[in-house]
Amino acid sequence: MFSLKNKLALITGGGSGIGFEIARTFIEAGARVIITGRRIEMLENACLALGENANFIQNDVTQIKGHESLISEIESKFGTLDILVNNAGINLKKPALEVSQEEFDNIIQTNLSSVFSLSKAAAKGFIERGCGVILMISSMAAYYGIDRVVGYSAAKHGVEGLVKSFSADWASKGIRTNAIAPGFIETPMMLKAMGDDPDRRDKAMGRTPMKKWGKASDIAYAAVFLCSDEAQFITGVSLPVDGGNSIGF
Ligand code: NAI
Repeated sequence: MFSLKNKLALITGGGSGIGFEIARTFIEAGARVIITGRRIEMLENACLALGENANFIQNDVTQIKGHESLISEIESKFGTLDILVNNAGINLKKPALEVSQEEFDNIIQTNLSSVFSLSKAAAKGFIERGCGVILMISSMAAYYGIDRVVGYSAAKHGVEGLVKSFSADWASKGIRTNAIAPGFIETPMMLKAMGDDPDRRDKAMGRTPMKKWGKASDIAYAAVFLCSDEAQFITGVSLPVDGGNSIGF
């Protein structure tokens, strides 16, 4: 059950954190993976750790004009793509009034515009073949108001909108689009954001009924399920994987 045997998956930002763990777990479930990111050394090290079923392509998701050629390059080198995981993301913690327009646009470009563009590039082949899966990595910032993350929050709300809209447009063509909304997961991004802000750390833990941080593997196992054929009737949803954080008081 929940096998990804013979599937080819593209995972953006797969060199670290949640993306790396999704890559590792997809391979365990039988998939081949292509990870992308900006830093070659990180990608090389990640592929060494992931083994022969992993390959990398250096790619900055904000270079939107290159998305169609990225998909063509993958398909000519590695075969047809079955799964796209839009995982790459950045955060910026600042009071809204101090966020410049440029900073806001930069977050939207990385976390939202690139997701729209790359999903569209992948969907062309998915539609031709009548099957494909798109998985977004959303956030609790798309579920409730968090102070000092205005761009990130706007982008993740947008990603949730893409999930519903892509599903409405493409589900009848064989494409399933879903999101996972991670709670507070121990990764470099999260530890950096919490490290210098004990109040926020305590607040996040205080409303997490399980009273622990999540692990990247918690997200990865949910990703395997949502991308597997066993989830074939699931589209347009956002699954919180959060120890109850989204419903905590
Ligand atoms: P991370 O910082 O370890 O990983 C993010 C990855 O995205 C890195 O490999 C980074 O190099 C890559 N990336 C950033 N900008 C890029 C660009 N322009 N082009 C290509 N790659 C780029 O952080 P983490 O925690 O693993 O984050 C992964 C996803 O999970 C993000 O979308 C984040 O918003 C989301 N998330 C994480 C949570 C957490 O608690 N760790 C909570 C909610 C959401």
